[in-house]
Amino acid sequence: MCSFQFFFVWCNNKQQLLFSVFIANMSFASLPRSKKVALTTLGVVAAGGAGLALMLHQSVKASELELHPPHYPWSHAGPLSSLDHASVRRGYQVYKQVCAACHSMEYLAFRNLVGVSHTEAEIKAIAEEFEVVDGPDESGEMFTRPGKLSDYFPKPYPNAEAARAANNGALPPDLSYIVNARHGGEDYVFSLLTGYCDPPAGVSVREGLYYNPYFPGQAIAMAPPIYNEVLEFDDGTPATMSQVAKDVCTFLRWAAEPEHDQRKRMGLKLLLGSAILFPLIYYMKRHRWTVLKSRKIAYRPPK
Ligand code: HEC
Repeated sequence: MCSFQFFFVWCNNKQQLLFSVFIANMSFASLPRSKKVALTTLGVVAAGGAGLALMLHQSVKASELELHPPHYPWSHAGPLSSLDHASVRRGYQVYKQVCAACHSMEYLAFRNLVGVSHTEAEIKAIAEEFEVVDGPDESGEMFTRPGKLSDYFPKPYPNAEAARAANNGALPPDLSYIVNARHGGEDYVFSLLTGYCDPPAGVSVREGLYYNPYFPGQAIAMAPPIYNEVLEFDDGTPATMSQVAKDVCTFLRWAAEPEHDQRKRMGLKLLLGSAILFPLIYYMKRHRWTVLKSRKIAYRPPK
């Protein structure tokens, strides 16, 4: 058993405190009461000091001001839950009317929405609202024509430099895969969109930046894009800030993972299939092995 003993030695002539710990072959229980108290106090003080040092060390880190997004109860979060397609539809409306002013979604084409959030006729009508540059024609000129199903979502800026120039030097990222590209996924994007607030006392943000505790560094170049009644939903849903944020996040989840529903349906089929198959296979295994498993090998020494 590990045990130790403790000595304070007071040296009168040198006016010095000598402090030493001796390892002796004696257990803690057998120490006198006063020494037990001294040892326990020392242990508590040491642990407390270490804890305090750790806390002080943590509190001077700037990341202290950053909030981690909470987990929100998304209706598509369950292992077998599909996306809310009415929400995807409203989310596309939010993207089109709000976010598309600054953010591209270059990996999505209008045809991708067919059967997901809109009918083919609806999407054709939406695509035709956009002017798309096509060409060259027979005289070598580029021309514009109304959008088609096969066109990709139009970009707000022709290139990254133009996007930066229009946004104080910050580049609005492409939103096609944003919920997969950010830690926290749709929880993060939802918190970011709804989390703008005044900076705490003593913190100031540079001109053109906005305080957002969920954004790494807390100063984001995106002005708060949504607020209550920022748009009017076609289906009459009240467009509160959180409703708008939730719908656009559901839409962004679909955009980043269009196979979402298919994947979960396949998972369900696999579970149902294996619920039948596994007991059958187990029964067959027992059946086939029964001869080997139940035989008895006996050694009979020759007489
Ligand atoms: C006025 C232009 C503008 C609008 C409108 C806008 N954004 Fe942004 N957004 C930006 C800029 C600029 C950045 C880059 C911010 C930075 O890097 O500081 C950004 C960044 C982002 C980011 C990335 C944050 C990160 O972690 O890097 C997300 C997500 C985002 N926007 C979502 C949206 C959504 C969703 C909408 C629509 C509801 C929207 N934005 C509308 C300009 C805009």
